[in-house]
Amino acid sequence: MATPLSLFICSSFFLILAGPESLPFASGEDFSILEYDAKLFRGDYSPPSPPPPSPPPHPPSVSCEDLKGIGSLNTTCELNYSLNFTDDVYIEGKGNLFILQGVALTCPKLGCLIEINITGDLILNPFAEIVAGSVYIVAGNASLFGGSVINVTARADDLLEPSQGTPDDAEGGGGGHGGRGASCVMDNKKLPEDVWGGDAHSWDSIEMPWTYGSKGGTTKKEEDYGGRGGGRNWLQVNNTVDMRGMLLANGGDGGIKGGGGSGGSIYIKSHKM
Ligand SMILES: *[C@@H]1O[C@H](CO)[C@@H](O)[C@H](O)[C@H]1NC(C)=O
Ligand SMILES: *[C@@H]1O[C@H](CO)[C@@H](O)[C@H](O)[C@H]1NC(C)=O
Ligand SMILES: *[C@@H]1O[C@H](CO)[C@@H](O)[C@H](O)[C@H]1NC(C)=O
Ligand SMILES: *[C@@H]1O[C@H](CO)[C@@H](O)[C@H](O)[C@H]1NC(C)=O
Ligand SMILES: *[C@@H]1O[C@H](CO)[C@@H](O)[C@H](O)[C@H]1NC(C)=O
Ligand SMILES: *[C@@H]1O[C@H](CO)[C@@H](O)[C@H](O)[C@H]1NC(C)=O
Ligand SMILES: *[C@@H]1O[C@H](CO)[C@@H](O)[C@H](O)[C@H]1NC(C)=O
Repeated sequence: MATPLSLFICSSFFLILAGPESLPFASGEDFSILEYDAKLFRGDYSPPSPPPPSPPPHPPSVSCEDLKGIGSLNTTCELNYSLNFTDDVYIEGKGNLFILQGVALTCPKLGCLIEINITGDLILNPFAEIVAGSVYIVAGNASLFGGSVINVTARADDLLEPSQGTPDDAEGGGGGHGGRGASCVMDNKKLPEDVWGGDAHSWDSIEMPWTYGSKGGTTKKEEDYGGRGGGRNWLQVNNTVDMRGMLLANGGDGGIKGGGGSGGSIYIKSHKM
């Protein structure tokens, strides 16, 4: 066992002592450790992209009345009408927000942000829904009753940057998250970088994830068969989360003509759950 170790140390010393002039002499099979390093890092990952830009400042808060609700966001606002928003929406108040049974707040635009910042209780009654690309909630308490859902499934904004699995004649790669997605295509005529799945939108924070999933690849460059990436779900509660409903951030389904999207992010922080 000692011999390889001392050999290695000798080689290292030799390398350090050898100036660039003597490299032609030093290169070759005897210092295969260099060759090994070169292969290890060749094209394994694309370099990490820079951290995502901080979100733009939110628009002014809408009122309970704007939401066709009853009451005030500084006391209690009850929503009994489903709404379709056309753009990002910010809801702020020092009171409670109750979304009544079966009521859906939806922003169909990809990547659309619904932001709720209330000091009191947020309640999603049975079958209430919040559906958007990103949902960012700060509240005193949050209760999601059975059948309610905050759903950012397959709603990643893909206008941010082109990121999807590679197109391929037969199979589209899957979406990636925090790294590239995998591809099950086995084809040794292709370089690995030609058959990988979607690139990550950014290198995510494991502790505070706020990143979209990426899109699955499509089998045709011209047509978009890949599943969309999942959106972003953030739930930050000062006191108690009572979770009987669902938080979903799945990637969109693939199919025989495209790969599935990768899941997005879910962050929950609360004192009690
Ligand atoms: C809620 O109170 C804040 C100040 O405490 C005020 O700026 C805001 O306009 C109030 N909103 C409503 C809907 O009354
Ligand atoms: C909410 O609307 C439904 C019908 O859409 C109605 O039956 C129900 O009474 C309303 N609830 C409240 C609290 O206004
Ligand atoms: C919102 O839009 C969807 C289609 O995008 C439609 O099915 C739904 O009825 C709309 N809801 C409201 C309350 O307008
Ligand atoms: C939430 O609203 C409060 C004011 O009520 C404000 O100070 C705080 O910055 C807001 N938080 C976020 C995350 O927007
Ligand atoms: C949250 O729930 C706790 C216990 O259920 C309650 O004491 C508190 O008043 C509620 N509201 C806020 C804003 O913490
Ligand atoms: C969540 O959204 C996805 C995509 O729009 C949809 O297919 C799925 O049925 C939704 N899930 C629930 C539980 O509403
Ligand atoms: C969070 O809860 C603590 C104790 O219940 C309270 O003192 C504090 O003001 C709350 N913070 C916010 C932002 O509501």
